[in-house]
Amino acid sequence: MQSGKYILKILVTGGAGFIGSALIRELLKNTNYEVVNVDALRYAGNLNSLPFAENSKNYCFELCDICDEDQLKIIFKKYEPNVIFHLAAESHVDRSILSPKQFIETNIMGTFNLLNLSLDLWNSRKSESNYFFRFHHISTDEVFGDLGDSDLKFQESSLYRPSSPYAASKASSDHLVRSWGRTYGLPYILTNCSNNYGPYQFPEKLIPQTILNAINGLDIPVYGDGNQIRDWLYVDDHVQALLCAVFQAEQNQNYNIGGNNEIKNIDVVNQICKILDNEVKEKPQSISSFADLISYVTDRPGHDLKYAIDASKIHKELGWTPNENFETGIKKTVLWYLDNQVWWKQILQGTYQEEKK
Ligand SMILES: NC(=O)c1ccc[n+]([C@@H]2O[C@H](COP(=O)([O-])OP(=O)(O)OC[C@H]3O[C@@H](n4cnc5c(N)ncnc54)[C@H](O)[C@@H]3O)[C@@H](O)[C@H]2O)c1
Repeated sequence: MQSGKYILKILVTGGAGFIGSALIRELLKNTNYEVVNVDALRYAGNLNSLPFAENSKNYCFELCDICDEDQLKIIFKKYEPNVIFHLAAESHVDRSILSPKQFIETNIMGTFNLLNLSLDLWNSRKSESNYFFRFHHISTDEVFGDLGDSDLKFQESSLYRPSSPYAASKASSDHLVRSWGRTYGLPYILTNCSNNYGPYQFPEKLIPQTILNAINGLDIPVYGDGNQIRDWLYVDDHVQALLCAVFQAEQNQNYNIGGNNEIKNIDVVNQICKILDNEVKEKPQSISSFADLISYVTDRPGHDLKYAIDASKIHKELGWTPNENFETGIKKTVLWYLDNQVWWKQILQGTYQEEKK
């Protein structure tokens, strides 16, 4: 999309992470936008997830912590972006339970800094004809808490009832974004998405952890009885939803994004084991099926039982619908981890962290 006489400049925060890198790969592949990746390269940030970006003349990387207001100010002045996709966050629930402070700083204060700088930029340029600006905040369905068996799926109007420090910090940032829109007139888009899976996801999350533990012959941990239900969305489908929302929606709208794939955690794990049973000839430790490695562990405190998301608004208003169902998406994902061992071995062996220093 070209707006007026200029090519859009897109600033992505957290572009070295799982979803941010998928978004940047798509932007560099299929658009001529200028893309600036702002990332502090925390433990989940990995520039190897952007293998072709460095050779692209449309791409820049800025090593920056979004809590550092002064450095962010310089970046905003240098690039004057039209669109900010804000994905930088601390994103792992277990880590938020063990040490919540970083979640409060990055997810709340970092968002506050970005909102303030976005507002200054918007105010300085909004009188120009054809000027396009959106602050797109990427959030989670976890802000809604969990559902009982007979509850309706989460809707855009559902109450916020976050359970974990991670979800509470994301809920706070959602409230800040809405208030910057309502009080100061900042044009924003807010999306709340269900669990993503796909290539380049950091190995601590359920799906990559299951695949990699299985390949390496380690126990596959499953919390509690494994009956927690999550909705799963393939990451590239999320990326398409984000692009749809930012360029097609009216400003100051919020959309739920989901895959309509509500599955128990234990069934996700069993499905991965089945694919691996078919794909991997030599199994470790003389097991007959990868499912033999499943090990039930003490449940996470405050663990939400069920998430289910009603994504009918984005479908009806913007025509977005996911391309992958869980069966096709999970097969692609498992094959990707089997074919891209260098990427994850560097993480598991700690050599990527050393390279970053
Ligand atoms: N993964 C999911 O299933 C999911 C679902 C819905 C919403 N989300 C949201 O999407 C966003 C991205 O999630 P993800 O899974 O890609 O996360 P991720 O953990 O893979 O990536 C986060 C990125 O943010 C960077 N980062 C962290 N703190 C930073 C800071 N202070 N300054 C600058 N950069 C910093 C990290 O280096 C990393 O590159 C998050 O906001 C998350 O809440 C994720």
